Amino acid sequence: TKSIQIALDGPAAAGKSTIAKIVAEQLGYIYIDTGAMYRAITLKALNEGINLSDNEAAGELLAKTAIDLQPSENGQLVFLDQQNVTEAIRSQEVTGSVSEMAAHESVRLQMVKLQQQLAEGRGVVMDGRDIGTDVLPKAELKVFMSASVEERARRRFEENKKRNIHTPLEELQGEIAKRDQMDSEREVSPLRQADDAIYLDTTSLTIREAAAEILRLAGERL
Ligand code: C5P
Repeated sequence: TKSIQIALDGPAAAGKSTIAKIVAEQLGYIYIDTGAMYRAITLKALNEGINLSDNEAAGELLAKTAIDLQPSENGQLVFLDQQNVTEAIRSQEVTGSVSEMAAHESVRLQMVKLQQQLAEGRGVVMDGRDIGTDVLPKAELKVFMSASVEERARRRFEENKKRNIHTPLEELQGEIAKRDQMDSEREVSPLRQADDAIYLDTTSLTIREAAAEILRLAGERL
């Protein structure tokens, strides 16, 4: 049977990665979390005290950095220069800085190339902001997933609780809204729905329902 490429885009905390993992597992495809890649380079910039607003410095830093994604039982492990940073890239500090780092053209050019190499010639579910528009413009299935900002903050709050993180709900909502705004308003490949993407509002869907809908759409294209 044929393998397809599935591009899953949308704003922060829309449940993309959770659903992408399920879909990839069901189809036997690889799953690529592109947000994790932007988070990894942001972590390195913070550790090295690089000025986050410097496009050139950001690009130079990425050029000498190895970012690897490896499948694991509960999703995906992220390695930054051979170090496991799977947990570290989820910190509030990284979350608060990643959109500034991801806005740089010097960073995006390299990331998009790397992501295209990872996806080449195989069945893949890739989640991010610009997958349908820039990274995999020929993907057989493009889905743009969203939910109200209140619902997304509530989901992130519940997810954090399990990981013993206790950021107040209002703070999460503010952080998510700010990140969406920065991601949508940047000049280089902003967050937007591709013309040929299917819009999926998950506000009142469970994870299982959203995954089932994407699997149904994928089935039509296999
Ligand atoms: O998906 P996640 O919320 O982990 O992404 C973190 C940040 O990385 C986003 O807010 C965005 O600034 C950036 N990003 C991006 N393009 C992608 C994936 C993520 O700019 N394809």
